[in-house]
Amino acid sequence: MTDDIAAELAAKFLAAPVVPLIEADDPATAVRIANALQAGGLDVVEVVLRTDAALDCMAAIVQETSGIIVGAGTVLTVEQAKAVAERGAQFVVSPGLVDDVARFCIDKNLPFFAGTMTAGEVQRAYALGLRSVKFFPAKLAGGVPMLKAFSSVFREMKFMPTGGVSADNLGEFLALPSVVACGGSWLTPKDAIAAGDFEQITKLAREAVELARAARP
Ligand code: 3PG
Repeated sequence: MTDDIAAELAAKFLAAPVVPLIEADDPATAVRIANALQAGGLDVVEVVLRTDAALDCMAAIVQETSGIIVGAGTVLTVEQAKAVAERGAQFVVSPGLVDDVARFCIDKNLPFFAGTMTAGEVQRAYALGLRSVKFFPAKLAGGVPMLKAFSSVFREMKFMPTGGVSADNLGEFLALPSVVACGGSWLTPKDAIAAGDFEQITKLAREAVELARAARP
């Protein structure tokens, strides 16, 4: 990723600081989900490596949509980080912090959101050179009060809370200046995908954009 794309990611987060997760079994469905999210105003998506077709799904969104920034999530190993980078991932998200994955992404200029939930993990991420991390699982790990405590000591660190975020608490997280964006699967419900109800996904995206605007006028 070039600095220009990093800047583009930051600009998109300013407009709509929400990252929907996409978990799909086939590339065509993944593209429809991404288009539905974009129609609702969300154009940064994270394709999670949790299905056999996940890499193909991510690559299809990269190739068949425009104006969408596509990241890869649930990246557990350096091998997976290499694979998603080769297939066009523009950012990488992990549930935890593996130093080798962090170093690979830093080396490739790929924005990397390592999962953290303790001060020790945030500090290790900081020492590795990361200035943005995922906060996971955000709700169970202490939610807004925990992030406030982190931000008082890690003043430069930005957080992407994910895990238990929904329309009910999105505004509370986004009210924190240290939150760069919130991630979550609530925008892409499995039952809507199974039913082919992509309009519901667009509605959920629109609702999230409105909530984000209210939290950050
Ligand atoms: C993740 O991969 O970040 C989490 O599984 C997302 O959690 P959620 O399903 O509660 O949004």
